[in-house]
Amino acid sequence: MKKILIITYSQSGQLDEIMDNIIRPFSGKVVIVRRKLKPAPDFPFPWKDIAFWDAMPESVQMIPARIENLQIDPGEDFDLVILGYPIWFLSPPIPLTTFLKSPEAKKILNGKPVVTVIGSRNMWVNAQEDIKKMIWENGGELKGNISLRDRHNNLVSVITIIHWMISGRKDRFLGFFPRPGISDTDIAAAERFGKPILEALESGKFDKLQSGLLELRSVEPDPAIISIENKGKRLFKLWSRFIRKKGGPGAGERIVRLKIFKWYLLFVIFAVSPVATVLFYLTYPLFFVKINRKLTYYKGVSLK
Ligand SMILES: Cc1cc2nc3c(=O)[nH]c(=O)nc-3n(C[C@H](O)[C@H](O)[C@H](O)COP(=O)(O)O)c2cc1C
Repeated sequence: MKKILIITYSQSGQLDEIMDNIIRPFSGKVVIVRRKLKPAPDFPFPWKDIAFWDAMPESVQMIPARIENLQIDPGEDFDLVILGYPIWFLSPPIPLTTFLKSPEAKKILNGKPVVTVIGSRNMWVNAQEDIKKMIWENGGELKGNISLRDRHNNLVSVITIIHWMISGRKDRFLGFFPRPGISDTDIAAAERFGKPILEALESGKFDKLQSGLLELRSVEPDPAIISIENKGKRLFKLWSRFIRKKGGPGAGERIVRLKIFKWYLLFVIFAVSPVATVLFYLTYPLFFVKINRKLTYYKGVSLK
């Protein structure tokens, strides 16, 4: 029987629910070793205001923290590794970065096919580029990607996710906004991705896996969101360096800069991004070929 390792990080359990559904068809056919990353100390959930923003600089700069030992036998060999993660500030969440930058990750991933599963609000392409690079540095081979997101309007989902993150409740803010996060329908329908993964696993042929997953709409990038995200990631890199000049995680000296960043970001999201989106669509025909080339790349598993 083939043997797989699943490593996830999820605060609310949303990502784990998606993973449960994806691997449902594996039942009785595959040996599954499942591990959840546990930061030490853990990040708060629900988040306290400043702690949330304090996670930005190290997420963006991909600075590892500490995680508990994964308790994986070093001699254990896997036929496939599946990594499941949410996005933090357009970047991989710190616990996954910590794992991927550990010597243990090299032992586990070296020479292995890897599938990534993302559960985000809607901005995930830059984080996935960082993840692709870390998988490659560990000698792993990315063969498939599934990216689920909140399908509501960008501004609406910012409001609802903030409500979810600071209350811990995935319910309708003020009884009026839609539920935050990935819809129950999309989470349940993730089961369809299990079949092509299982086929690739059983045949040992992973080269057509991503095209099979794409036929099932495993990745549906939104070009206007990508355009905002790419600009945002450049700015986050500048802000993260600026904030880290005042100290590392939890340093009191950096609180003022974190607060300025918070208000700056909310201003950019609600005042600047709608204008940028209109401009994006007005100029879309001029950049049609370039944009489509980018979309094809982000749907794939290759690394530029
Ligand atoms: C600190 C933090 C930053 C986040 N930044 C982003 C982001 O940049 N892009 C995005 O699409 N989602 C972002 N999210 C939402 C997550 O991608 C995810 O949807 C949410 O945290 C639920 O995931 P989980 O409960 O499975 O961990 C962020 C969440 C947190 C906690």
